[in-house]
Amino acid sequence: MKISTMNERILSFPSGFLWGAATSPTQVEGHLENEWTNFTAIDGGNCRIACDSYHRYSEDVEWLSQLGLNAYRFGIEWSRLQSAPFAALNQNELARNVDLLDRLRTAGITPMVVLHHFSDPPWINAAGGWTNAATIPAFVDYVGKLVTALKDRVFIWNTFNEPDTYACVAYLLGGFPPQRKWKLGQFRKVVGHMARAHAQASRIIRREGLAGRKPQVGIAKNWTFFHAYKNFSLWDRAPAFVCHYTFNKFVLDAFLGGWRRRASTFIGLNYYGRVRFHHFRAMIPASGTPIKAIKDFGFVCDDMVERYPEGMEKILAYLRRKFRLPIYITEHGSASADENFRERDLKQNLAALHRSIQAGADVRGFFYWSLMDNFEWQFGYTKNVRKYNGSSATNPPRPFKP
Ligand code: BGC
Repeated sequence: MKISTMNERILSFPSGFLWGAATSPTQVEGHLENEWTNFTAIDGGNCRIACDSYHRYSEDVEWLSQLGLNAYRFGIEWSRLQSAPFAALNQNELARNVDLLDRLRTAGITPMVVLHHFSDPPWINAAGGWTNAATIPAFVDYVGKLVTALKDRVFIWNTFNEPDTYACVAYLLGGFPPQRKWKLGQFRKVVGHMARAHAQASRIIRREGLAGRKPQVGIAKNWTFFHAYKNFSLWDRAPAFVCHYTFNKFVLDAFLGGWRRRASTFIGLNYYGRVRFHHFRAMIPASGTPIKAIKDFGFVCDDMVERYPEGMEKILAYLRRKFRLPIYITEHGSASADENFRERDLKQNLAALHRSIQAGADVRGFFYWSLMDNFEWQFGYTKNVRKYNGSSATNPPRPFKP
C-alpha cells in the first residue's frame, strides 16, 4: 500500500502490511455491565449507549471496508462472556462475536482481538480486580475457553491494552474506577498480576490457538516520552525520570524482561507523543495545564498530549534493539476537532514510521485510533480535559437500564 505525505511524496509500505483502525468495547459498544456502566465522565457523559456498536457492528465493518482497511483491532468484553468465575461462555454473546468475525473475513479484514481494555466483569471488580491474584486464574480460564471457541477465526491476540495506563489512572490518579489515588503498592500489584496473566494466557494461545496459521500474541504498551523542559533543572528532570521509570521501564520489564520476553510473539505499541515537565508540572492539556501556558512554551499538543512524531522513530529503534520482536502500532491518532491538524499529525507519524521500516524496524501493521469518535473514559465525549485535575470525576451510582 502507498501513502502520500506532506510534500506529497509517495511512501511504499511492505506488502502484507496491516492497515487498520481500533476500538474498545466500553468506548463503542454500549449496553454492557462493567465498572464503567455507572460512571459519569466529567462532561456528564456515560458509556451506556456509546456508539451502539453492540447492535451496529455490521455498519462498522462496512465503514472499515469503505476506508480501504484490511485489519480491525477490537475487544471482546469479558463481562459479556462469563457470568461467574470459571463459568461456561455465554453462547449468544459468542455467536455475536462469531458473526462479527465472519463479516470481517468476508470483507477481507484481519481481526486483532484485545482481551482486556480497561474493564472487568462486576464479580472480578467486587473481589478487588487486578489487585487480587485470584483474578489471574479466572482470566486465564476465560482466555482458554475463548481461544478454543474462536481459534479458526482469530490468529492475532492482544492480551492487555496499556496495563500501565490502566494501573496508573485507576490506582495513582483516581481517574478510572475504582478511582484510587497514590496507591503505588496497588499499581505495582496490578501490573505484576497482569504480567503473570499475560504469560499464562500466552502459553494457552500459542498451544491452543493453532488453526492453520501460527497464533500471534502480545500486549499493547502505551509509550509516552517523559522529558524535562530544561535539562539542568532538577524540578523538571525528577518527575520526568520518575514517570519514565514507573510507566515505561518498570512495565516493560514486568511484561518483557528476562524469560518473560518469550511470552510475546510481538509488541503492540500505542504511541501518541510526549509529556514535558516544567517545575513538576506536566505541560499537557490532559493534566489540566491551561492551553495558554502550553502555547506560551511553544509546545504543539492535541487535546491530550504533546505531539512528537520524531519519537515514533526513537521508540521503534529502542524496542528493536532491546527486544528484537515484530511490532504492530496498535494505536496512533490525535484528539482534535481540527481536521487539518489531524491529517498533518498522521502524515508526520506515518513518515516517521516509514523511515523506521527503511532503517530495519520489523513493523507489521498500523492501527489508527479510532475507527469512530467514542467514549473517552473519564473525559466523556467532549474531551473538555482542561477541567480535569484528577479529582473532579464523579461516580454516582445509578441504576443501569439497557
Ligand atoms: C487507549 C484508548 C484511548 C486512547 C486515547 C489509549 O490510551 O487505549 O482507550 O481512547 O488512548 O486517549
